[in-house]
Amino acid sequence: MSGVDEIVVGKTKLGLVQGDITRQATEAIVNAANPNLMGGGGVDGAIHQAGGPAILEECRKIVSRIGRLDTGKAVITSGGKLQAKYVIHTIGPVWHGGSRGEAELLASAYRESLKSATDYKLKSLSFPSISSGAYGYPMAEAARVALSTVIAFLRGVSTSLEEVFFVLYDSKTYQVYSAELAESASQM
Ligand code: APR
Repeated sequence: MSGVDEIVVGKTKLGLVQGDITRQATEAIVNAANPNLMGGGGVDGAIHQAGGPAILEECRKIVSRIGRLDTGKAVITSGGKLQAKYVIHTIGPVWHGGSRGEAELLASAYRESLKSATDYKLKSLSFPSISSGAYGYPMAEAARVALSTVIAFLRGVSTSLEEVFFVLYDSKTYQVYSAELAESASQM
């Protein structure tokens, strides 16, 4: 199936980018974090590495207040040394085969991140492919949930967002998202 790289939903452009999310110039980027918000590998490691200690300091303050961040929830910090002004940290579900509400928890991670960006009146936002790395979510299924959730939000909620990007780290992931975006667009 041929892919699609960009669609418009309402007044918001939804596009795919192949690259490193820490290098995106959108106002905010989303981090695929873990409940203790103390950094990790993958996207989490890259964002803390590129953003510097200020981000971890703010995460530490948040955790001292709330203890841990539950799966599907999101919190916002500054972007530290990143081009992005903000980092929205969200927790995707660990994949356990699909019968423990993983799809709804993944959808919630995207939805809560979009709500947070809208609350801050942001115009642009970049997502990674949440849960499809260390958390083991099958890529095509993760892409389907991600795109359908973001499209549903953009159709249903008045938002400040004018551009939303999925920043995909490698060509294989990009191709999967591009095929899923074509599928989602054909059903709109
Ligand atoms: N930019 C964009 N995408 C990236 C980058 C990057 N710099 N680094 C990795 N990715 C991609 C991975 O290839 C994968 O497709 O992000 C996707 C999510 O992978 P992970 O970062 O492993 O995130 P996740 O599967 O949600 O697991 C989160 O891993 O790093 C720990 O602390 C983190 O416990 C948490 C868990």
